[in-house]
Amino acid sequence: MSSDLTTGIHDLSFATGEYVLPHTALAAYNGTDIGKYHTGIGQRSMSVPAADEDIVTMAAAAAAPIVARHGAERIRTVVFATESSVDQAKSAGVYVHSLLQLPSACRVVELKQACYAATAALQLAIGLVRRDPSQQVLVIASDVSKYDLDSPGEATQGAAAVAMLIGADPALVRIEEPSGLFTADVMDFWRPNYRETALVDGQQSIAAYLQAVEGTWKDYAEQGGRPPQEFAAFCYHQPFTKMAYKAHRHLLNYCGQATDEDAVERAVKHTTAYNSVIGNSYTASVYLALAALLDQAGDQTGGQDGGLDGRSVGFLSYGSGSVAEFFAGTVVPGYRRHLRTAAHRAAIDRRTPLTYAEYRELHQRSFPADGGDHPTPAQTTGPFRLAALRGHKRLYDTR
Ligand code: COA
Repeated sequence: MSSDLTTGIHDLSFATGEYVLPHTALAAYNGTDIGKYHTGIGQRSMSVPAADEDIVTMAAAAAAPIVARHGAERIRTVVFATESSVDQAKSAGVYVHSLLQLPSACRVVELKQACYAATAALQLAIGLVRRDPSQQVLVIASDVSKYDLDSPGEATQGAAAVAMLIGADPALVRIEEPSGLFTADVMDFWRPNYRETALVDGQQSIAAYLQAVEGTWKDYAEQGGRPPQEFAAFCYHQPFTKMAYKAHRHLLNYCGQATDEDAVERAVKHTTAYNSVIGNSYTASVYLALAALLDQAGDQTGGQDGGLDGRSVGFLSYGSGSVAEFFAGTVVPGYRRHLRTAAHRAAIDRRTPLTYAEYRELHQRSFPADGGDHPTPAQTTGPFRLAALRGHKRLYDTR
């Protein structure tokens, strides 16, 4: 491997669902003080997919602008990371490959480890690019977070897909070595094959996440990583945005650094803008944090010209069960010319608000498992739709 070869995130684009449920509607239904949602967990609203949307349609919608900008000639690998897979055998990425008409000379695979898998996909992609820097890898993280109605997890649902083009000499973020790694066998969140909704022990999942923050940082430091004061910001996995604050406070404490609220606020504030209105998007969440950070670049440094040019950003990717990784990226000077800020804000603003009753009906929808012909109602205004389940096969259309 050439030591001067830089690899990382060349482009990043996200998509989310057709609908949005404001937490005010959930609070009005279940009698919760809205302060618990807005302040206690840091959530304002959650994206809800239409009946004809799923992880595939969101993934294709996220990746299409990347393929339109860069072409598909150099993409020889698609890695699809998800917790909310639609098939036990076929990779959701193969549907995306078809919808985007990617070249047949391409490998496509799906990765799973709760909310962590997109980071495994990113690291795998970097390895492939280092082996052959002429190639690019399309990494897609797409998830619909679904908990039982009337459960504590209900307020932390959401849906989104983030697509990232990984390549040599990236335009946005250079991913650095080393990584700090941590795995522990813990039952904080899981979803047996026969369930559509996740099972979770909320308090245990918070404790397991904080334990993983320590574990990854310890390993990162031992591997010769940067000291905490070198980072301009930290992108944490955000099942709810208050978790980023808890995690960063915990990290600073662990490192023996001052934990005044200003320091915590400066490090994570700009990373929460999208997750607080989209909700938990599992594998996509840590990269939505990055999107929010980069898109608010102008606000980062009190309006200095370079924004985050050349600055280091820390990433803490956590997936229940559990696997976690801490790594660093350096923001590439000039990155702001390559952002998709207007499209990202439009993806959020275009969502149609649901009443609580409409959301509940969508939540309770599922396809019969009888192999019959089950067309979906035409609801999405996005570029791709799940048209039907017919003979146990998912049929997708380009609108
Ligand atoms: N105003 C302001 N804050 C309030 C409040 C109010 N009226 N009422 C409660 N709060 C605060 C609580 O103090 C608590 O904050 P703290 O954790 O900083 O002390 C927060 O709101 C949540 O309250 P809590 O009683 O813990 O809520 P809960 O029992 O409904 O559980 C989750 C919250 C996040 C654990 C739950 O939504 C869940 O299980 N989510 C899914 C799993 C998950 O996201 N895990 C994260 C790690 S991956």
